[in-house]
Amino acid sequence: MPGAAIKANGLGKWFGEGEAKTMAVRNVDLEAGFGEMIYIVGPSGSGKTTLLSVLSGILRPNAGKVEVEGIDIWNLNADQLADFRLNKIGFVFQDYHLFPRLNTAENVAIPLFLRKKDWDESIGEATRYLEVVGLKERANLPPVKLSGGEQQRVAIARAMVGQPDILIMDEPTASLDGDTGHAILKFVHENILRADRCIIVVTHDSRIYEFASRILKMEDGRLTVTQNDASLLQKG
Ligand SMILES: Nc1ncnc2c1ncn2[C@@H]1O[C@H](COP(=O)(O)OP(=O)(O)OP(=O)(O)O)[C@@H](O)[C@H]1O
Ligand SMILES: [Mg+2]
Repeated sequence: MPGAAIKANGLGKWFGEGEAKTMAVRNVDLEAGFGEMIYIVGPSGSGKTTLLSVLSGILRPNAGKVEVEGIDIWNLNADQLADFRLNKIGFVFQDYHLFPRLNTAENVAIPLFLRKKDWDESIGEATRYLEVVGLKERANLPPVKLSGGEQQRVAIARAMVGQPDILIMDEPTASLDGDTGHAILKFVHENILRADRCIIVVTHDSRIYEFASRILKMEDGRLTVTQNDASLLQKG
C-alpha cells in the first residue's frame, strides 16, 4: 500500500479549563508506515491512551490533523467516522471494554457481524482467533466468568478478527503472564505485521520490546524519541 498508514501533525488534546486544564497531548507529530510495529512507552498519565484515542477516531483532538491512509479522519461526518473505525481500526482497550451480555465468541465476532458478515461465519472466524489466544474452551462463557488476563485476550482476538489495516493496542499484555504475552505479541508480529498492516502498541512490558520496529517515548504529552533507541530496546 502506498503512503503512510497514519500521519499526524500538531496534535493537541486537553481536558477541562482554567486551573483544572490538563494538557494530555501536546503538539504531537507522528508518521507510521505499513509493515511497522511502533511502540509507545512512557509514565502513567503522560497521554498515551489519549493519543491512541485521537489517532483512531475515538476522541476528537483540540488541535492538529490525523490522516489515515490519506484520509483526514477528523473531517469525516459521524457516519463516515463510525465506518472508518469499524473497517480500518482494531483497538485493544486498556480496560478491555467487553460486552457483558455477550459470550466470549460473540464478543470477538461483533466486528464481523457489524460488517454484515453472516452470523455463523462470524462465530466460526471468532473461534479461530480464540484458538490463537488460547481461549477456545472459553467460547461460551460471559466476560464475568473470565479472569482479567482472559478478558484481555478476548479483547485482543476481537481487535484482530476483522484483519484491520491499523491495529492499536493499549497495554495488551498488562494482565498476562510473561510467556502468554510474549506468545501473543509474537503471533501479532509474525502474522498481522506480515500482512503489511500498521500496529501501534502502548506498553510498559520490556519482555515484548523485541517485536518493535521503533520505540517512541511519551512524556508529559509530548512524543520525544523518534528513532530506535538502544537503551529502550535492550531486553529485561
Ligand atoms: N476524560 C478525561 N477527562 C479529564 N482528564 C483526562 C481524561 N482522560 C485523560 N485525562 C488526563 O489526561 C492525562 C493523560 O491521560 P492518559 O490516560 O492519556 O495517560 P496514559 O499515559 O495512558 O496513562 P496510563 O499509563 O496510566 O494508562 C492524565 O493527566 C489524565 O488525568
Ligand atoms: Mg493509558
